[in-house]
Amino acid sequence: MGSFFSLLVLFLTISPPHSCSPTSQNTLSIGFSLSVEDLDHLLISPKGKFSAGFYPVGNNAYCFAIWFTQPSCSRDRDCVLVWMANRDVPVNGRLSKLSLLKTGNLVLTDAGRSPVWSVTNTASLFSLRLELYDSGNLVLHDLNGIISWQSFDSPTDTLLPQQLFTRNTQLISSRSSWNFSTGFYKFYFDNDNVLRLLYDGPEISSVFWPDPGSLPWEEQRSTYNSSRIAMLDSLGNFSSTDNFTFFSADYGEKLQRRLKLDFDGNLRLYSREEGNGSWVISWQLSSQPCIVHGICGPNSVCSYDHRSGRMCSCIPGHNIVNHTDWSYGCEPEFKLSCSSSDAIFLKLRHVEFYGYDFGFYPNTTFDECRNKCLQRCDCKGFQFKFIKHDHPSDIPYCFAKTLLLNGQRSPNFEGDLYLKVPKERQLSDDWTVDEFNSFICNSTHNVIELERKYVINHKAWSVKFLLWFAIGVGVFEILGIILVWALLLRNQLNRGEITQGYVQAATGFKRFTYAALKKATRNFKEEIGKGAGGIVYKGKLSDDRVAAIKRLNEAHQGEAEFLAEVSTIGKVNHMNLIDMWG
Ligand SMILES: *[C@@H]1O[C@H](CO)[C@@H](O)[C@H](O)[C@H]1NC(C)=O
Ligand SMILES: *[C@@H]1O[C@H](CO)[C@@H](O)[C@H](O)[C@H]1NC(C)=O
Ligand SMILES: *[C@@H]1O[C@H](CO)[C@@H](O)[C@H](O)[C@H]1NC(C)=O
Ligand SMILES: *[C@@H]1O[C@H](CO)[C@@H](O)[C@H](O)[C@H]1NC(C)=O
Ligand SMILES: *[C@@H]1O[C@H](CO)[C@@H](O)[C@H](O)[C@H]1NC(C)=O
Ligand SMILES: *[C@@H]1O[C@H](CO)[C@@H](O)[C@H](O)[C@H]1NC(C)=O
Ligand SMILES: *[C@@H]1O[C@H](CO)[C@@H](O)[C@H](O)[C@H]1NC(C)=O
Ligand SMILES: *[C@@H]1O[C@H](CO)[C@@H](O)[C@H](O)[C@H]1NC(C)=O
Repeated sequence: MGSFFSLLVLFLTISPPHSCSPTSQNTLSIGFSLSVEDLDHLLISPKGKFSAGFYPVGNNAYCFAIWFTQPSCSRDRDCVLVWMANRDVPVNGRLSKLSLLKTGNLVLTDAGRSPVWSVTNTASLFSLRLELYDSGNLVLHDLNGIISWQSFDSPTDTLLPQQLFTRNTQLISSRSSWNFSTGFYKFYFDNDNVLRLLYDGPEISSVFWPDPGSLPWEEQRSTYNSSRIAMLDSLGNFSSTDNFTFFSADYGEKLQRRLKLDFDGNLRLYSREEGNGSWVISWQLSSQPCIVHGICGPNSVCSYDHRSGRMCSCIPGHNIVNHTDWSYGCEPEFKLSCSSSDAIFLKLRHVEFYGYDFGFYPNTTFDECRNKCLQRCDCKGFQFKFIKHDHPSDIPYCFAKTLLLNGQRSPNFEGDLYLKVPKERQLSDDWTVDEFNSFICNSTHNVIELERKYVINHKAWSVKFLLWFAIGVGVFEILGIILVWALLLRNQLNRGEITQGYVQAATGFKRFTYAALKKATRNFKEEIGKGAGGIVYKGKLSDDRVAAIKRLNEAHQGEAEFLAEVSTIGKVNHMNLIDMWG
């Protein structure tokens, strides 16, 4: 019995629900799937440049992704990803799979249940397959090469050489270097045909490239070509129909390249020799990381130096809102009354806040500008700077602000911000940024942990199943003992040693003599298992039926109790017993 039990259990454990293999290494054929449980089961492009498969993004959290195969990354988060199907909805590590269905649709299902991502097939079913190319493009196409869908049409945050960037595509940064979900920065063709970078935050959004203070033509950009196409070629030439173009520092060399909108809002071109692990930045949009909007939140300024990197600081009289997330910025520790006589202005040198002007006044004196701000309750301060003109002298400009956002401080910036504060604040009226408290703009590192519901259920299910199975086998085994006992007892009953009531109780069991069983088992020769209390032997009954016969070592109960038990179990279960033996 024992060995029978373990044999069955073994059989169950070696045949889990399983996915099928693709027909070749870079292709997934119709009716097949890739399973999250088999992380070595990947699509690999013909020359091995790219791999596609399930990629861990947290504890029990996986995304279907494409990455550079070389140098072999162990996938504990150091692969260079170029595309993701489900960046915002990672799937569980059990039972999730990407399947090319018989209908031709491509579906990514979470834990064997809900689809989290899908593609509807528009090509024919004729030899339809999903194929990964050496360009890094994952393509669903049929035998005639009709493309139903391709990953190049829906980039994540990376553009590869020869991948067309069009009016229908955009790059969206990830949330952070470790959180791959949709972040705040977007690179796209705007309605006026110009490529732009947008900060699209939870509360505010603003374009920060090209310089929002200039018109497109001032930045050598054209608004007239509505075809809106841009492309990076393999030599490192990026060129767009809006006349924006750049060349990588290593232009012309045969290198692997990728253009990525990084989580910090900067657009960077990376390159490396094929198979050489280290990527180098061969071009970047801005070496001034503080031009990126949305870094530090309201009432704070971004500053940068090579030693400590990018930093956020609260402006005087303000405190940080959320220590783990700078995008919440800082809040004032004072309340401004509306009366103009109660306010004074603090000068913040070389500090600029972009946007949110209620008024913009050229050729204005400082006092005029100051009065404009004092007259409005919602004026938080004003920017006062001289702007170069063709005129012999620079002209002063006044920008009065209702919100202090997108702040940056740079020694190169010629201009100051005048911050409106209550008169009773004993603040020195000439601040430099060194006097603020600076903090590195870094958020704490958390790991995504998906709800493990399905996994636990799955485990619970198997445990439950095994438990019931064990109980079933246990009952079965007890019945085996009972059978043998019953046979022996019948023998005794015949000799009139037991009362009539018990005889009836045991009805339904066939009785064998010890001698008959001894004969059937050929003197207890062929042992087939060991159970509680005795050994089980194989036997052949006189009518040629094969039986398992258990020989009990000793009786632990009185005969009367034993027979009572036989009666109960026998009434309930002996039909099953006979079925099973059959
Ligand atoms: C396109 O850019 C080049 C330099 O990059 C510039 O000389 C030219 O005037 C620009 N054309 C337009 C239409 O802006
Ligand atoms: C727009 O750009 C494309 C690609 O560079 C070019 O073929 C086309 O002639 C341009 N159209 C106009 C109106 O300039
Ligand atoms: C860069 O690419 C553009 C568009 O493909 C092309 O017109 C231009 O000639 C290329 N420049 C060089 C130097 O190859
Ligand atoms: C790998 O790349 C680094 C940085 O570009 C370079 O210094 C190094 O020589 C390269 N190594 C090989 C083996 O190509
Ligand atoms: C700070 O921000 C984090 C991340 O957005 C958030 O989880 C947390 O609740 C915030 N804390 C406070 C005090 O608002
Ligand atoms: C600026 O204002 C002064 C006085 O109001 C005036 O004389 C001067 O011409 C103005 N400059 C410009 C460039 O408008
Ligand atoms: C910012 O965070 C990144 C990743 O968590 C870490 O590598 C880096 O050292 C941090 N920088 C600072 C200045 O703390
Ligand atoms: C990653 O970013 C997404 C989107 O903002 C957020 O919902 C998720 O909680 C983040 N993950 C962690 C671990 O903070």
